Amino acid sequence: MILGAGRAVSMTDEEFRLIRDLICDFCGIYFEDSLKFLVERRLQPRLPVFGFVSFRDYYRLIKYGRECEREFDEIVERVTTNETYFFREAYQLRAFTDEILPMVVAQRSEGRIRVWSAGCSTGEEPYSIAMLLDKCPIVAGRPVDVFGNDISRKVLRTARAGMYTQASFRSTDNAYIKEYFHRDGRTYQLDERIRNRVTFGHLNLMDENALALIGKVDVILCRNVIIYFNHASRARLLATFYRKLRPGGFLLLGHSESLVNETKDFELAPLTNDMVYRKPGEGSLL
Ligand SMILES: C[S@@+](CC[C@H](N)C(=O)[O-])C[C@H]1O[C@@H](n2cnc3c(N)ncnc32)[C@H](O)[C@@H]1O
Repeated sequence: MILGAGRAVSMTDEEFRLIRDLICDFCGIYFEDSLKFLVERRLQPRLPVFGFVSFRDYYRLIKYGRECEREFDEIVERVTTNETYFFREAYQLRAFTDEILPMVVAQRSEGRIRVWSAGCSTGEEPYSIAMLLDKCPIVAGRPVDVFGNDISRKVLRTARAGMYTQASFRSTDNAYIKEYFHRDGRTYQLDERIRNRVTFGHLNLMDENALALIGKVDVILCRNVIIYFNHASRARLLATFYRKLRPGGFLLLGHSESLVNETKDFELAPLTNDMVYRKPGEGSLL
């Protein structure tokens, strides 16, 4: 039971399951039964906006209403977890520069190299990649496209602005802050040179039509995203990643995510700095 606009509104178990399943169909994010309180709490403020007195009415709105698309934008801002920071999982980024990139460069002697940060949140992940590329002699003179996508419009605004606070630097060497950021009081503006290396776009990873616009890529970072998905959504997304990767291309997941029990399409590539996944093909083990 929670309070909103002066009255108590609770979500029944049935309403929870209906709304939970719609959210999952839309964006892949799945709430276990034990998280009903969270969905109730986060969506409750939406009821008075429409003058609704029950979550059943809200369910009807997002299932059948003309405004359902706009309302899902609202829901996304309330149910996504956007936690991120620069140089997260540094050992994996070391594997990216020291081992993965040299293999990609050797594999593809010409053309643009493409790196996709899928679920990039406020941009720290693709910008970390861009800073590393800036220092990476192996790609000197070689065009590398880095692009980041997210379903949340709010995080993308921050990403595009490239403006951060101390919380984003918990894993960043001071040398990088000095070299690539301009401090103004409590905020740190990322240098334009690095900002210009990354392109951001709004994209729902569950939206097949939108995904069709993304061409083949060499490396996908999808870290700390599928941990919030259910098995069916993960399977859909992994099949997409498989199609988007070039043969021998790499898939980097978060440290608590794995493809065990998900798919056998990818091979495990044991690198010195990390274990990552790879689409079988050119240069791979299979
Ligand atoms: C926890 S953050 C991870 C950010 C970054 N990859 C990292 O590891 O630091 C997860 C991000 O995935 C995004 N996300 C979740 N579901 C998505 C979907 N269906 N399509 C696109 N982005 C999604 C969320 O909005 C959120 O910003």
